[in-house]
Amino acid sequence: MKAAQTILVTGANRGIGLEIARQYALEGWKVLACCRDPENANELAGIAAQSKGAAGIHRVDVTDAKRIKELARELSRETIDILFNNAGTRGPEEQGFGHVDEDGWLETIKVNTMAPLKMAEAFVNHVSRSRRGVIASMSSIMGSIALNSTGGYYAYRTSKAALNIIVKGLAADLRGKNIISVCFHPGWVKTRMGGAFAMISAEESVAGIRRVLSGLTGEDSGKFFSYEGEEIPW
Ligand SMILES: NC(=O)c1ccc[n+]([C@@H]2O[C@H](COP(=O)([O-])OP(=O)(O)OC[C@H]3O[C@@H](n4cnc5c(N)ncnc54)[C@H](OP(=O)(O)O)[C@@H]3O)[C@@H](O)[C@H]2O)c1
Repeated sequence: MKAAQTILVTGANRGIGLEIARQYALEGWKVLACCRDPENANELAGIAAQSKGAAGIHRVDVTDAKRIKELARELSRETIDILFNNAGTRGPEEQGFGHVDEDGWLETIKVNTMAPLKMAEAFVNHVSRSRRGVIASMSSIMGSIALNSTGGYYAYRTSKAALNIIVKGLAADLRGKNIISVCFHPGWVKTRMGGAFAMISAEESVAGIRRVLSGLTGEDSGKFFSYEGEEIPW
């Protein structure tokens, strides 16, 4: 029998991350579902209970580099086929031209930019044990410099544009370890971040992302994809 594949996903307690955990668990994957407050992750606990042990919940605040390293040690026996840096924040209320909240901006960079690199560094050996290891990071079309024609959202946009160059860097740095690094725009998704007027459901977004992930080859490393598999300009 083919061994189950394993995905680690951050921000798995709600929104797109919860749906990633749900869909991969339903497909029979082992899911290492990470969130910062497991005691209040009720929907995720439901998924874990239904998975008969295949999905487990792990505490990590992705801005806590010490905890990230500790978690990597706790999971040192795992082979991780997909490391999915999904956790993210929209950033401070005030981030328009002339009134960017600087503390909120720094916090946004910590969550959206620095954490994915710290996760990749901590889990590189787990992913390199996979026959086709992938480090996927959730970016946003808001982080595309080429497509920014409306301005504003300085904290969020800079955090995701900087994430994008990390994704390219990982593709180069980890090529020798046979690891594919990609990032995604998940669409405008109905979550707490995307809001009620968003265009698509988390189910639709994640179904698309899973399709793209399952077809990736080494040639795709360092690319920025939409959930529908279109390449997005940097
Ligand atoms: N929704 C959209 O339309 C859209 C569009 C483009 C890109 N994205 C990206 O997609 C990803 C998921 O977004 P979403 O729509 O699902 O947003 P969401 O519903 O607001 O969920 C954000 C998730 O990130 C977690 N998180 C935030 N800070 C964290 C930290 N320091 N440590 C650990 N977890 C943390 C949250 O956990 P808590 O519950 O503990 O806060 C939550 O699980 C983000 O990277 C976002 O930028 C979303």
